[in-house]
Amino acid sequence: MLNFSFQNPTRIHFGEGQIKAISQEIPLDARVLLVYGGGSIKNNGVYQQVIKALDEHTFFEFSGIEPNPSYDTLMQAQQIIKAERIDYLLAVGGGSVVDGAKFIAAAALYEGEREGESEGAKDSDPWDILAKQQTVTKALPMGAILTLPATGSESNGNSVVTRDGNKLAFNSPLVRPLFAVLDPSVTLSLSDRQISNGVIDAFIHTIEQYLTYSVNGKVQDRFSEGLLQTLIEEGPKALRAETREDLEVRANIMWSATMALNGLIGAGVPQDWSTHMIGHELTGAFGIDHARTLSIVLPAVMKVQKEQKREKLLQYATRVWQITEGEDNARIDQAIELTEQFFTQMQVPTRLSDVNLQRKDVDLVINRLQQHGMTSLGEHNDITLEVSREILLLAL
Ligand code: NZQ
Ligand code: ZN
Repeated sequence: MLNFSFQNPTRIHFGEGQIKAISQEIPLDARVLLVYGGGSIKNNGVYQQVIKALDEHTFFEFSGIEPNPSYDTLMQAQQIIKAERIDYLLAVGGGSVVDGAKFIAAAALYEGEREGESEGAKDSDPWDILAKQQTVTKALPMGAILTLPATGSESNGNSVVTRDGNKLAFNSPLVRPLFAVLDPSVTLSLSDRQISNGVIDAFIHTIEQYLTYSVNGKVQDRFSEGLLQTLIEEGPKALRAETREDLEVRANIMWSATMALNGLIGAGVPQDWSTHMIGHELTGAFGIDHARTLSIVLPAVMKVQKEQKREKLLQYATRVWQITEGEDNARIDQAIELTEQFFTQMQVPTRLSDVNLQRKDVDLVINRLQQHGMTSLGEHNDITLEVSREILLLAL
């Protein structure tokens, strides 16, 4: 196992009716900005529950954060933050709203490049947090009410923001939500497409911290295998008419998605985020939903990196898919095939052609990977631009 330091201070309030916990979580003297998206929370009763819980608090609202939140939209929140002297953010929505609130929280207190970090004039454009990976030294405190289980954003320090088709990420412990409310019943209003996207995103977060090479991290491996099996079992039930409204199914999916990216399973093991990095370019360039880029890229990554991942692919075949017969190559191929069948069952695409992309579009993605410095991805840093091209061509 690799050395690691691990702390996850986000307090989770899990279960039906837990939104009311926010009234205790947020200090009474805070000046709160309630941050949300396009209005789904007004149609499913979440907004009304939040307003009731904030009965004794002073709060303001900022809405309109779109999926794959845009820098321009997020920067608009700075006016109200200054004018109303906001000192606490409450994000209510999916990963885009939570990620957006994190960027708003960091941008509000951003003072520009620190001494010695730049040769030139002091520049205080918060975009540098993403574009130049400037360290976040201060951020407004925030909490989250999650309405779409997928990203794990509710209890991690990651945020992904888009500007002019450039989809960039930053990470800081200062933007990790102090608390997160996970009420599975609020996910009942999700469309099938969003349910599928969430299950696939969580599945692939787990895979990217698991399917590398073994460091004998038995706890991490078995936690990951448990999450993968749970998502394989419960994901399809959330789409099936008879079990669609089953809150136990929703609860298991929701907790899996949080656990998949709260830092626990990734502590002390190698990681391979190549599927995500290539996927972000597909969203930035063509607007494809985040999870759908991943379901297209991952099978090709598994095939192209088969030798590097051989030992773990065999473990995955045996422990996740119970494939115990046959010679090694055949077992690996069968595990990849079953992964693709699961994606198809979850109604997400597995090929670029499924989303009308062709050979000529691959060049654009490769150019963007180069532009963003994504030239040595994977657990061995051996996914060069040439290998990424091979992955994308195989995904056609
Ligand atoms: O905006 P509203 O009206 O709320 O509608 C949203 C949005 O249209 C809707 N929705 C959310 N909860 C709902 C609901 N509709 C009905 N009922 C509910 N209960 O769903 C739509 C999609 O929401 P979005 O937040 O975009 O989805 P998701 O949670 O999948 O987040 C995707 C974003 O997270 C980033 C992605 O890149 C993408 O920008 N990621 C963040 C990560 C992180 N912070 O750790 C890791 C991920 O890998 C990912 O990159
Ligand atoms: Zn993701």
